[in-house]
Amino acid sequence: MSGTQTDIFAQDYTKDCFSAAAINGLQLKNRFIKAGTFENMTPSGTPSQQLNDFHGTLADGGIAMTTLGYCAVEMDGRLNENMMYMHEDIRPQLNELIDDLHARGTKVSGQMGHCGGFSKNRELSRRRPLGPSFGLNGLGLSRGMLFCDAMTTKDIKNLITSYREAAAFMKSVGFDALEIHFGHGYGLCQFMSPKTNKRKDNYGGSFENRMRLPLQVLAAVRDAVGSNFPLLAKISMTEGVRGGLHYDDAVEISKLLDEAGIDGIITSGGTSTMNPMIMFRGGNILPGMLRTEESRLMRFALRLMGKSMFKDYPYHELYFLEQAKRIRDAVSCKMIYVGGASSNASFTTLMEQGFDFIQLGRTLLSDPDLPLRAKMDTGFVSRCTHCNDCVSTIESPNGIHCTQFSS
Ligand SMILES: Cc1cc2nc3c(=O)[nH]c(=O)nc-3n(C[C@H](O)[C@H](O)[C@H](O)COP(=O)(O)O)c2cc1C
Repeated sequence: MSGTQTDIFAQDYTKDCFSAAAINGLQLKNRFIKAGTFENMTPSGTPSQQLNDFHGTLADGGIAMTTLGYCAVEMDGRLNENMMYMHEDIRPQLNELIDDLHARGTKVSGQMGHCGGFSKNRELSRRRPLGPSFGLNGLGLSRGMLFCDAMTTKDIKNLITSYREAAAFMKSVGFDALEIHFGHGYGLCQFMSPKTNKRKDNYGGSFENRMRLPLQVLAAVRDAVGSNFPLLAKISMTEGVRGGLHYDDAVEISKLLDEAGIDGIITSGGTSTMNPMIMFRGGNILPGMLRTEESRLMRFALRLMGKSMFKDYPYHELYFLEQAKRIRDAVSCKMIYVGGASSNASFTTLMEQGFDFIQLGRTLLSDPDLPLRAKMDTGFVSRCTHCNDCVSTIESPNGIHCTQFSS
């Protein structure tokens, strides 16, 4: 298969999604990057054969770079105990996985995540998770961790060290690029957001102060990997909640990340903590969550609060395009579009609009060979219906999958 792929993507198209392009020296054979989607194929935090097979199938389907979703930078950075965190014990599994994907012609990015004060991790080393400020930890309800505590300055220093060490580790195991998660309501986003950051010290208050930790993290990660290594930033252009970050803030955030040396910005939106549906528009995920949630207490809370948290955002193609264009106009780094790109017509629009790469989430679950298929069929439209049932498989023992189409 990889021989066919090399041929198929070798032709020199100017600025089309099947042409090769580089990001900080990393050559990608086409413009398609798998978006980080936490796979739940790392039982007790260890990468499994299933994870290899999952990404291997995407590699055989022609993706230029795949992303290992949610690689926690430290043990307490996990949402749950089945997420992996970056440490020496998993070096052999990561080496094997990455070597295999390289042999199949695909580059590998790792999404660096930290949950901050949003966690139900049974193996947490403390009584409660740590965020910028004391507050609610909705996810922890079923585990008796309804609140999170505020980080001290020492905790913040330790967190920066964790990012630095995780980045060095990830580069050393063979990742080709790293994607720092600045969005979706996770740890760094909690610091950036006036909604969740109520600190009175120089990590809270003004925009400049709220951006201090994210920029220190970026500097530490850059320091660990060196200047010739691709670093991407995934941001939420809006949190979708009153008092949170919005599209105008995202332009300013992007400018700062660009000036600080990020190589590419991924323009997502929403928060897993307060308003997730902005992120993956389409079928509402609340019914699926009620169906799969094991905790009665959590189901009760979802019935009570769910309607206000899981608002309806009907799907339409390229739903972040107009706002992502504002960021494109404000920065000089590469632009990586994510959100509702599921047909050749959309891919062409993105290329015409000056985006450099396209991240794909759900469409690669329904059509793992999307790049190859799209290359062969000019009228290609993904089978994904955006029903969002895949989101309710996120804690399935089989890992995430499309419930409509198996391959
Ligand atoms: C099952 C599932 C899991 C996801 N997990 C993550 C994740 O771990 N990290 C992340 O940044 N985004 C995650 N996302 C969001 C996707 O990366 C992407 O931003 C979103 O699905 C919109 O892109 P799409 O329209 O191509 O699916 C997830 C999405 C899905 C459907």
